[in-house]
Amino acid sequence: MVEDNDKPEIAESKNEIGKRNSRHLRGTIAETLASQATHFEGGDKGLLKFHGTYQQDDRDLRHENRKKGLEEAFQFMIRCAIPGGVVTADQYLVLDALAENFANHSLRVTTRQGFQFHGVIMKNLKATIAGINHSLLTTLSACGDVERNVMTCPAPLNDEAHVTLRRVAREIAIQLRPATRAYHEIWLDGEKALSTEQEEPFYGDVYLPRKFKTAIALADDNCVDLYNNDAALIAIVEGSKVVGYNVLVGGGMGMTHGKADTVARLAEPVGFVGWEHAVETVRTMCAIFRDHGNRADRRHARIKYLINEWGIERFRDEFRRRALFDLHDWRPVPRPVCHDHLGRNRQDNGKWFYGVFVENGRIIDRDGLRIKTALREIVKSHRPGLTLTPHQNVLLTGLDERTVDAIERSLAAHGVTPATLLSAARRYSMACPALPTCGLAMSESERLMPTVVDAFEAELTSLGLRDEPITLRMTGCPNGCARPYTADIAFVGRRPDVYHVYVGGGMGGDRVVDLFAGDVKTEDLVSTLRPLLQGWAVNRRKGESLSDYYQRLLHRDKPRQGITGREAPTRELVQLELSR
Ligand code: HEM
Ligand code: SF4
Repeated sequence: MVEDNDKPEIAESKNEIGKRNSRHLRGTIAETLASQATHFEGGDKGLLKFHGTYQQDDRDLRHENRKKGLEEAFQFMIRCAIPGGVVTADQYLVLDALAENFANHSLRVTTRQGFQFHGVIMKNLKATIAGINHSLLTTLSACGDVERNVMTCPAPLNDEAHVTLRRVAREIAIQLRPATRAYHEIWLDGEKALSTEQEEPFYGDVYLPRKFKTAIALADDNCVDLYNNDAALIAIVEGSKVVGYNVLVGGGMGMTHGKADTVARLAEPVGFVGWEHAVETVRTMCAIFRDHGNRADRRHARIKYLINEWGIERFRDEFRRRALFDLHDWRPVPRPVCHDHLGRNRQDNGKWFYGVFVENGRIIDRDGLRIKTALREIVKSHRPGLTLTPHQNVLLTGLDERTVDAIERSLAAHGVTPATLLSAARRYSMACPALPTCGLAMSESERLMPTVVDAFEAELTSLGLRDEPITLRMTGCPNGCARPYTADIAFVGRRPDVYHVYVGGGMGGDRVVDLFAGDVKTEDLVSTLRPLLQGWAVNRRKGESLSDYYQRLLHRDKPRQGITGREAPTRELVQLELSR
């Protein structure tokens, strides 16, 4: 158990007590699985997350079932942790088959380069998790109070810098994976550990106060949304070599509507470390969170709140006190841009990679769009590598040029539009799953977003802005799973059919939005933003994005670092400026 003698005694939250008493994540999960139960009860529900699964119920059926006096339609979401999003053809085919046999016939590419299954019922839960493991992937630590899936640039390039990033992402994931044998015992029928005492040398009995998210990128491409993460590394390259990393800490998107003490905020600079210290740097930051993060109030249990409380200087001091290497000054880097890596791209050694757009990450056959079948057939016949992107898309990698042609034909035959023909609004859009699976959703997101994008696409096209890069994002609640608070425009669910509208982030992911208008009905989303879009169409400077224009309109020169759950909307200010 990790001790911290400086910390005052404070009451632990219920979750902390649950973790402490769980015997390193065992709880009574195995016993319940072996019974006829349709679902888990009590503390096991929290422990399941560390194993990569959430107990959910089909919210479309909830009301009807209650009326009939039936229990909820219990089902499970299962998430794979895939560092850097890299999977082989064989692994993909296993996941595709598991989705067919045990889930709701779909796979979902997540905004953190993972895969999710939805709709798995209790009797198939163990077989699905075991099947994922047999393909040499894991669900361990895809959720829960631990280091989560480590993200890095998905471009499958084999220059030294990209290879280094992928290696470092994997090493961080391996080093910070929970060590408990519980996962093997429960899901893979592993032998029971004789003693559970020394099982978690890093995490101790209570793991982290909450999740910890890490991303690594090159300075010229922020496709992983570095500033959204608890910890982030920006590789500094000289010649072809990574000489070290700029280090960031304290990003996080979740907040609560109406609560001024909850904040979505960007990570901020800590300093620069040598190339050989990347893994230890993340481990040290994670350990600081482990020892000093808030364990009394889960709403404040993220490293961003610790940074807000301490200030960055105190964090630096603590980092220096623990690290056995030097923390240098931050190296200047340009403002980040973001590539989605879609379409045809040169890889190396005469090979190509091809980025397929997957609307909201949902790989499913539906309404004439048979992307699931298309990908299965392509993977079977051409055996590409696959990399999942932070924009919920799939890159097919290691291709001959002729194979790229064949893939394009195959996608077209199954109704999949090439990314180059999509409007910018659709290409860069993202939505979280929300209803019917997510227990926290207050409104629709993934199911509604395509029609909202239709409406914006029409509006932007009529203003001559169809191909101007713009990020539209939607979530069903303020937790922020689709990274809404760094988008150009975001819709965040308040209640059914009502959203808060945010504006002012942008592609680079280094600026936070403002609340533009509160409580807007779905049918009014476009009209609410129309004056601003019209202003942008007429008055924008060459290459000026919507958010850059918006920030100029409000005479802002400094990017915004954070936004709380209670804010004054800016719509009237914007209208005033537009009328001048
Ligand atoms: C802080 C409060 C948060 C809570 C309580 C929360 C909870 C959840 C839940 C319950 C789901 C499963 C929904 C489903 O699949 O049905 C989910 C999905 C997900 N969340 Fe969060 N989340 C939070 C914030 C975030 C943030 C800030 C991010 C990243 C910026 C994030 C990333 C994800 C990802 C990648 C998924 C998978 C689905 C997707 O890609 O959209 N979450 N979250
Ligand atoms: S943003 Fe909210 S509604 Fe959407 S998946 Fe995350 S927790 Fe659920």
